[in-house]
Amino acid sequence: QKLELELESIEKGGYPHFMLKEIFEQPRSIMDSMRGRLVAENTQLTMSSIREYENRFKNANRILIVACGTSWHAGLVAEYLIEELARIPVEVEYASEFRYRNPIINEGDIVIAISQSGETADTLAALELAKSKGALIFGVCNVVGSSIARATDAGAYTHAGPEIGVASTKAFTAQVTVLTLIAMMLAEKRGTMEKSALHQLMLEMEQIPAKVEKALQLDKEIQAIAEIFKDSSNFIYLGRGLNFPVALEGALKLKEISYIHAEGYPAAEMKHGPIALIDENMPVVVIATKDNSYEKVVSNIQEVRARKGRVIAIVTEGDTVIPEMAEFVIEVPEAHEALVPLLSVIPLQLLSYHIAVMRGCNVDQPRNLAKSVTVE
Ligand code: G6P
Repeated sequence: QKLELELESIEKGGYPHFMLKEIFEQPRSIMDSMRGRLVAENTQLTMSSIREYENRFKNANRILIVACGTSWHAGLVAEYLIEELARIPVEVEYASEFRYRNPIINEGDIVIAISQSGETADTLAALELAKSKGALIFGVCNVVGSSIARATDAGAYTHAGPEIGVASTKAFTAQVTVLTLIAMMLAEKRGTMEKSALHQLMLEMEQIPAKVEKALQLDKEIQAIAEIFKDSSNFIYLGRGLNFPVALEGALKLKEISYIHAEGYPAAEMKHGPIALIDENMPVVVIATKDNSYEKVVSNIQEVRARKGRVIAIVTEGDTVIPEMAEFVIEVPEAHEALVPLLSVIPLQLLSYHIAVMRGCNVDQPRNLAKSVTVE
């Protein structure tokens, strides 16, 4: 017994929980997921699996992304990025819905299956179905040799290393990293981005691990905010554009490990329902980094404030407008708009972690959840 406990504490590398260890590993896991694939100095992007199917990717009619849970959120980020950078239409589907609704799949389609474990039953069944209709199946998995990785025609592994905490953290940012590289490669091959703009994005991508490191220094600040809100029964998370999937992911993290009811919403949709929930007891986490929807998000914050909601805003370093209106402000480093999800998700992971710990929850093994869901 004692030996087991000691072994576990060694595995946790001095952290009280695997989840916290994994959150703090992200500068490293993001870097590992880029290694050998991106050399900005030489404007070089390589991924052998994309090269192998270069023509299929270049001429793809459509990309379909199938996944579940957090991996589905990474898929939503990829949708925005691939459409924006490479101008290929993308649809993101819950694997469980896709497989049962007689989906239209053509030979010119590419299906990307995203899965940390590579064992999720619905995702596996969805890709088998697409495969039987002639689509090219591309996997983004973390576990080498997993069922999904083996069932695909090609793929790119995320190099996040083993993820033990049931709530996915470093696997998510590794997925977003790999999918961002894929979007960039497709943009390069299809000539949909100016060379100089692409080069600039590569340079900025290389700086992400250092910026994530910086965002992790927010830990103490976030712990203090967690203390204030730990007894809330509801949370709303809002974001627009690339930060909309981040809002969903933030809400999911909180639900999973602290059992607080949380909803993620595209900020503008708030007025079609969730705004009715806002009162002086409702914490609203708004992701309001500097991007082209910034002004709109600022007005969404004002709408929340007008109803006395308690705003916790995630902003870009140096923002002087939002601190005037939000009750709490968390600053993340400035970054290229396309790369912001890799930074804005960090404080949300930490917030849910600290709230769950303060509520006495089992953060690494939340009730009713499994790390890999091999039943449908
Ligand atoms: C489970 C896990 C989630 C995960 C989802 C998809 O629900 O608890 O953390 O996001 O499955 O898993 P996958 O391994 O396919 O990414």
